Amino acid sequence: GWRTACLYKYKGFWCQPKEIQAIISFQKNFQPRDTDVILASIPKSGTTWLKALSFAIMNRKKFAISSNDHPLLVSNPHDLAPFFEYKLYADKQVPDLSKLPDPRLFATHIPFASLQDSIKKSNCRIIYICRNPFDTFISSWTFSNKLRSETVPPLLLEETFKMFCEGVVGFGPFWDHMLGYWKESLERQDKVLFLKYEDMKADVTFYLKKIAKFVGCPFSMEEEKEGVVEKIASLCSFEKMKTLEVNKSGSSIKNFENKHLFRKAEVGDWVNYLSPSMVKQLSQLTEEKLGGSGIEFKVFP
Ligand code: PPS
Repeated sequence: GWRTACLYKYKGFWCQPKEIQAIISFQKNFQPRDTDVILASIPKSGTTWLKALSFAIMNRKKFAISSNDHPLLVSNPHDLAPFFEYKLYADKQVPDLSKLPDPRLFATHIPFASLQDSIKKSNCRIIYICRNPFDTFISSWTFSNKLRSETVPPLLLEETFKMFCEGVVGFGPFWDHMLGYWKESLERQDKVLFLKYEDMKADVTFYLKKIAKFVGCPFSMEEEKEGVVEKIASLCSFEKMKTLEVNKSGSSIKNFENKHLFRKAEVGDWVNYLSPSMVKQLSQLTEEKLGGSGIEFKVFP
């Protein structure tokens, strides 16, 4: 109904009806290459940031980081590392991606289990980012309300929380999403790099180097001496990106404005929203689902 988000379970995960068409077309038509890099996440985990960082790293020979017309200064990261389901295959498009220069950079919210075998079997690389359940939930709830038309009442915190705990959130259940990529990252370290938003906030230069190595273009000693790593960190920082004109007034994905992608970018903002009983419930659930897996989250700043 109008009080809750309109989600359907499709092959084990929750999504909106309009996404299903695109997902089917993507699964049928996309031809992976070993040189491809696919960024994966459940929504609101730091996707936009990972897109910016990965694009800057992979294209730094073509686009010097300090140049005044770097693509990241005039384009939103969602244009530079497009989603299969929201952009490339949306609205019944079947794009010709064969002419894109290697290495191609794409993104998806689809869970690992639901990716087609051609991707699982290829040597393309997947970089996965996730975030603690409290902040992901608050980011998702506030974002969903920004996207709702003014003619319908906002999604209520309590109801949306209840649904999240039941697994009902776009591309969820939340825990299954990360477990799928986590298991693959343990089995195939060369295939999946598993990252956490909180770790990256704490030491972005460390993770920039890790990503660069993973995609096969590590920083040279010279680049490190010149401060290229720090320059990428600052080009992609929340503070910098939020102030760019393209991110204040543009729209890179149909039906939403880029400005909604940049809210607070903090670890621990959930304390301003969740009641003690909600915190208890979500902590217990997360322990139940992820306990023993090796995935642990930092939840305070
Ligand atoms: S989406 O719609 O799935 O692509 O959203 P996603 O980018 O995954 O998540 C949005 C949250 O990420 C914060 N954000 C950033 N953090 C750090 N650095 C940069 N550059 C950055 N850009 C966006 C954004 O503010 C959202 O988190 P919240 O907590 O809502 O602020």
